[in-house]
Amino acid sequence: MSAEKLKNPYNPIKATIVNIIVNAPDIKTFKLELEEPIEFATGQFIQLTVPGIGEAPFTPSSKPGRGKNIDITIMKVGVATGVLHKMKAGAKVAIRGPYGNGFPLDKIRDRELLIIGGGVGLAPLRTLIYEVMENKERYPRPLLLYGCKTPEGILYKDSFSDWEEDFEIHRTVDNPNEEWQECKGVVTTLFDKIKVDTDECAAVIVGPPVMMKFAALELENMGISPERIIVSMEKNMTCGFGKCRHCLLGDYYVCKDGPVFTYKQVKGIPGAWD
Ligand SMILES: Cc1cc2nc3c(=O)[nH]c(=O)nc-3n(C[C@H](O)[C@H](O)[C@H](O)COP(=O)(O)OP(=O)(O)OC[C@H]3O[C@@H](n4cnc5c(N)ncnc54)[C@H](O)[C@@H]3O)c2cc1C
Ligand code: FES
Repeated sequence: MSAEKLKNPYNPIKATIVNIIVNAPDIKTFKLELEEPIEFATGQFIQLTVPGIGEAPFTPSSKPGRGKNIDITIMKVGVATGVLHKMKAGAKVAIRGPYGNGFPLDKIRDRELLIIGGGVGLAPLRTLIYEVMENKERYPRPLLLYGCKTPEGILYKDSFSDWEEDFEIHRTVDNPNEEWQECKGVVTTLFDKIKVDTDECAAVIVGPPVMMKFAALELENMGISPERIIVSMEKNMTCGFGKCRHCLLGDYYVCKDGPVFTYKQVKGIPGAWD
């Protein structure tokens, strides 16, 4: 039997947190150096071991490809993420993966592409932004729409000026401060500001379930086919590779068949947006 087959799929790769960047209140990017390289595609996820707690799924937010260095952008919401947010550079963690299918590049390349992010949902989308920037000839007209609760909560604040060279960007916040001069309201309010060929364009949406639900519904009402609306679903996970059934969504395993789905695949599944 080959060494690859003998490898226990639950064995994690050790990693060191080499730097931590505070992106927003309750959101930090952890820069990891792995003991072995991994290769991940845009939209795939890893299982991160949080010492003393267990594992939790996160999507790398750094440039896709092969290497020993990956970034993970994490919002503090509960136990595991709370422990992570207290960790300092030099701390040891571990990862398994990558897992899942990633964004379907064959469906979104060579079209107008709407990338729509909500809150920390911009983290997985950053890998797609890198994909667009590295393969400009495949993305004739990329647009980035981003919605957040407050201006302080905006992720990767310094990157938007670079992204503006390649993307048409629109941003909105629910609760503006005095300096905010862009849009106010939920991310779907930005749809009035854009003009796309709804017969041809593709959209990728990542954000809180309720945001994805209403954004996808509105795009469909605008005339975009549910097969060209792509969403990344979040479910509780344990194994990450189709063995434990913890991530069932209808007939799909979110870890293996997803986490990326077309809106057509998931829109009618009860509990999809809970
Ligand atoms: C495929 C996949 C990729 C993911 N990628 C990322 C990522 O890149 N960055 C990231 O920050 N998170 C990501 N998540 C979500 C992340 O896995 C969870 O936030 C994490 O597991 C929560 O663990 P916890 O122990 O801190 O929270 P728990 O203690 O388990 O939960 C505490 C409370 O927080 C709520 N909660 C749990 N998850 C969320 C959430 N996502 N948003 C708001 N409230 C929540 C729970 O309902 C509960 O009420 C991803 C999830 C999946 C399935
Ligand atoms: S997480 Fe175990 S089957 Fe999906």
